[in-house]
Amino acid sequence: PFGSARAAGSAVPFGAAIQIEYLDSDPAYTQAFLDHCDIIVPMNELKWEALRPTRDAFDFASADRLVDLAQKNGRRSHGHTHVWWNALPGWVERISAADEAERVLTEHIEAVMDRYRGRVETWDVVNEVIAHDPANEGVLRDSYWMRVLGARHVPIAFAAAARADPSARLILNDYDLEFAGDRYDRRRAIVLDIVRQLQDAGIRIDGIGIQGHLYADQAIDIPALARFGRELKSLGVFLQISELDVIDWNIDGGPEEQDAAALVVVGDLLEGVFAAGRPDAVITWGMTDRYSWIPDVMPRRDGKPSRPLPLDADYRPKPWFDLIRRRL
Ligand code: XIL
Repeated sequence: PFGSARAAGSAVPFGAAIQIEYLDSDPAYTQAFLDHCDIIVPMNELKWEALRPTRDAFDFASADRLVDLAQKNGRRSHGHTHVWWNALPGWVERISAADEAERVLTEHIEAVMDRYRGRVETWDVVNEVIAHDPANEGVLRDSYWMRVLGARHVPIAFAAAARADPSARLILNDYDLEFAGDRYDRRRAIVLDIVRQLQDAGIRIDGIGIQGHLYADQAIDIPALARFGRELKSLGVFLQISELDVIDWNIDGGPEEQDAAALVVVGDLLEGVFAAGRPDAVITWGMTDRYSWIPDVMPRRDGKPSRPLPLDADYRPKPWFDLIRRRL
């Protein structure tokens, strides 16, 4: 048992991303977070698109409600996210002058972190900045921020975040950091380079988020992940699993086959991460299969229901969730 049933600091905190849409319509939904989570992550409500429909007005209502829910129940909130290639309102992308873009970015980080100071203690300052396939695309991924500011948008954002809330812990969050193969080796190496470059420039970075959007049929590189975690540790940077779910679009068969395959990859992920020491947190990208982005983006090829999350559509725990609960 996690959440309310667990003593603070007993081990690795467990968390999940929550969506404002289902708070009122589905009472079991909110309860699942209160039953299981030490950390609650607003899934979309702290993204630019949600916070800043126009340049001059912030809309904090949805994010406030979720952060309040966490706070009132004695849970932590994790902030997601300041810099991302996606979910940018059109008015931002129309800014073409570098100095103005930098001002808007720093002001945004200051305003949002100021509002949640003391209530949101960890932030994904930069999300999905590594090139999807570095062998063909260079080091960092194409984005509005890359086009207007270049690679320096990363130190700009971390420096602004450190100034805005010196007590918050600042994270670089990315995907495809756990699998076997050259593309993933390159991506892990780039993360380490970014950490070193920030540190050499005297800019604080506290942690790396491994998103953990796993594929039920794709092998985790346990030794590479363990090495990666140890390297980060030697740089003084912590690691968290930040968006865990299991993409089962290629799995044949029903729930038993899906859950058996998911158990293997989640188990391997934990093994690789724990080999470098306890992670700072394990966070899943939702709580129940009833609501997940996976069937929208990567539906089962055979048309059957996806089973990406710790609880199924009827809120029954999966074997891999039991494994996580034993391990944390
Ligand atoms: C996804 C949400 O789950 C969806 O509801 C939304 O429509 C799009 O964004 N990596 C991330 C998350 O960092 O912000 C993404 O969340 C999933 C992939």
